[in-house]
Amino acid sequence: MNHFLEISDLTYNQVQAILDQAFSYKSNPIFPDFSNYRQANLFYENSTRTRVSFELAAKNLSIPVINLNIDHSSESKGELIEDTLANLKAMGIQLFVIRHVQEGIQKALAKSLGDGIHIINAGDGTHAHPSQAMLDLMTILEYKPDLSKLKIALVGNIKHSRVANSLQCIFGLMGVGQFIMIAPKPWQPPKIHYGEVTDSLTLGLKEADVIICLRVQKERLLNEENLDLENYRRHYAITESVLKYAKPDAIIMHPGPVNRGIELDSSVMDGLQSVILKQVTNGVLIRTAIIQLLLT
Ligand code: CP
Repeated sequence: MNHFLEISDLTYNQVQAILDQAFSYKSNPIFPDFSNYRQANLFYENSTRTRVSFELAAKNLSIPVINLNIDHSSESKGELIEDTLANLKAMGIQLFVIRHVQEGIQKALAKSLGDGIHIINAGDGTHAHPSQAMLDLMTILEYKPDLSKLKIALVGNIKHSRVANSLQCIFGLMGVGQFIMIAPKPWQPPKIHYGEVTDSLTLGLKEADVIICLRVQKERLLNEENLDLENYRRHYAITESVLKYAKPDAIIMHPGPVNRGIELDSSVMDGLQSVILKQVTNGVLIRTAIIQLLLT
């Protein structure tokens, strides 16, 4: 594995190897030394969790990290991203963690810049967020180890969600029993890779073992016909009263950032069933495992 670009590039065994390594770090936090490598984080879209956890992951492995300030980089003077990477590579950086609004740009850069570097996709437009899918899977396995017996419900804007795309790929690959995506019609995707889609929250949540909420992108909501925040909340918010449709021990997840009181009530987010901060903790370990796998 030279690059980490999307879940559909990975085999079952590669996903399992990353999970095994992350769980091993969790039980025994001793990390190998990769201090002869250098990592650059290039985030062209905002991020808290992904950027910081990739930085902490590198530090676990003793890798010096550069966080390029995009607004103050020479791209503001017209330099192409390909040339930025080529210059960073010339300075001895081998690992590039990139988040970008343009779908597929990490794959194109991996192809054009050739060997000797490793590119990690930290999210590209509405296409893929593979490390998020990996950390979500790790968190689910901690609570519900038999994937084949699970019903997982994903609620929100499926059509525009890179997380939803990567989750479909990883749940299909790893054999999740039932995966149901719940969204109002304008947010249902034209094509799905794995699972089924419904616009009924009660049907989708029925007997679910895992509920994953997606962030309501308020900027999009206003543009969608017949959708407004109040309407969305009434039909799709995860509140204490809708939790009764799922199994009593269902876990609640969210990739973050959360709009408290919109897609998810504060009492549910902070409640006993929420594992949202466990996802964030696991994110550092999964990203450490991804980097280690790329470098060995
Ligand atoms: N889940 C996620 O990608 O969060 P950030 O945008 O904060 O990185």
